Amino acid sequence: MAERAGIILAAGIGRRMKSAKPKVMHTVAGRPVLGHVIAAMREAGVGRIVVVRSAQADSVRDYAASLDVATVVQEQQLGTGHAAACAMPALSDFSGTLLINNGDMPLVTGPTFSSVFAAAEKTGLAIAAFRASEPGAYGRVILDADGYLDRIVEHKDATEAERDVDLFNAGTVVANAPDFFRWAAKLEKTNAQGEFYLTDVPLIAKREGVRCAVLESDAVEVMGMNDRAELAQAEAQMQTRLRARALGAGVGMLAPQTVFLSWDSVLEADVWIGPFVVFGPGVTVRSGAEIRAFSHLEGSIVEQRAVVGPYARLRPGASIGEDVHIGNFVEVKNAQIEKGAKANHLSYLGDAHVGPGANIGAGTITCNYDGFVKHPTQIGAGAFIGSNSALVAPIAIEDGAVVGAGSVVTRDVSKDALAVARAEQKEISGWAARFRVRKTAEKAKRG
Ligand code: UD1
Ligand code: MG
Repeated sequence: MAERAGIILAAGIGRRMKSAKPKVMHTVAGRPVLGHVIAAMREAGVGRIVVVRSAQADSVRDYAASLDVATVVQEQQLGTGHAAACAMPALSDFSGTLLINNGDMPLVTGPTFSSVFAAAEKTGLAIAAFRASEPGAYGRVILDADGYLDRIVEHKDATEAERDVDLFNAGTVVANAPDFFRWAAKLEKTNAQGEFYLTDVPLIAKREGVRCAVLESDAVEVMGMNDRAELAQAEAQMQTRLRARALGAGVGMLAPQTVFLSWDSVLEADVWIGPFVVFGPGVTVRSGAEIRAFSHLEGSIVEQRAVVGPYARLRPGASIGEDVHIGNFVEVKNAQIEKGAKANHLSYLGDAHVGPGANIGAGTITCNYDGFVKHPTQIGAGAFIGSNSALVAPIAIEDGAVVGAGSVVTRDVSKDALAVARAEQKEISGWAARFRVRKTAEKAKRG
């Protein structure tokens, strides 16, 4: 197999998104669209990847760098063909097979790219196309009598008859690298948009007698993403795919269509997910755990048989141990909750360590922030924190200690001790009866 390199076109302004953010940095299932394209290329054995970005798009440069991918700048957005040519200096030593792909293709997968590589083997040039009933603004793919590409006509340049064609250009080209760059250098901008179109490359190849194969691909996989509505459609499609994958892996869901997954959610077999649960990036849920309705999780791990929710929030760094219960309106952030501990109602556990078997009463708050920095809370094994307690960090409640309900605890509590930090109760005998008599008389006087 010839070596494979990839160019991702991501310098477009993305005007139709009406966003300050570069189009390819908008996320689908929690991952920038660019990341999905890079992952699919890698899955298809593309070793070297060059992303073409605009000069202002620092976020594209930084994100690509975080994935070990280089970027080159297209100073002026003169079209997709021009953008591809901008990658030439970065690939001048490359003589293998080149995949040029739009950056706005969030649902593409490795196997689809592999099929386009295979389609290009015979003639040295191939594109991906798809059929759809919704015509949209895609380029139309016109085939010749032998089923090879005759030409691609951009929507804006197409005649009425050409617009009736239901085969569309996906935005994927595979070619021998030196040939491709030679062809791209010959592009002209004699079209409706005054741009150098990548879609004209096959015409130039044809002049050299090179035919372009057309691979019909899955319409969902190669769908583009140009505005907010298409981004929302891409998200819906990705969610459908992720849910199907989770169900196939043995995850139970009462209402899959209401569960939102992240591209990297790890849900083991026999996890149970209730309705309306949202997973942000970086969540692992182990077998036998249950995530009940209306919970929101990100950057967290939930161990076996733990129960989270309904209405729970796990923020980054939450580590929920085996058999732990995190109940309604409990928020956990950067905290390890050890085996069998329970926080069943209305609590905030932040920057905390809760030992095994500890019980956190309703309304307990770790006061972790003093307005400047965060402080840790330690709660020992088997400790019992009474309801509505405020634990002012830094603080340690040692193993087996009990904190009385309603306490504001500012000093460490020793092992097996009781800490009560609230006003002492006093009783005035007969007060209520006297109060009632006085008030009744007052009311009668007013009529
Ligand atoms: C393009 C295709 C169209 C195809 C559609 C599939 C061309 C001329 N048209 O249209 O045939 O049906 O994709 O989704 O190729 N870009 C740059 N520099 C530029 C212009 C664009 O890097 O100067 C990048 C964009 O960031 C984007 C990609 O190229 O990721 C495609 O550009 P876009 O404007 O989305 O093209 P479409 O109108 O969708
Ligand atoms: Mg597009």
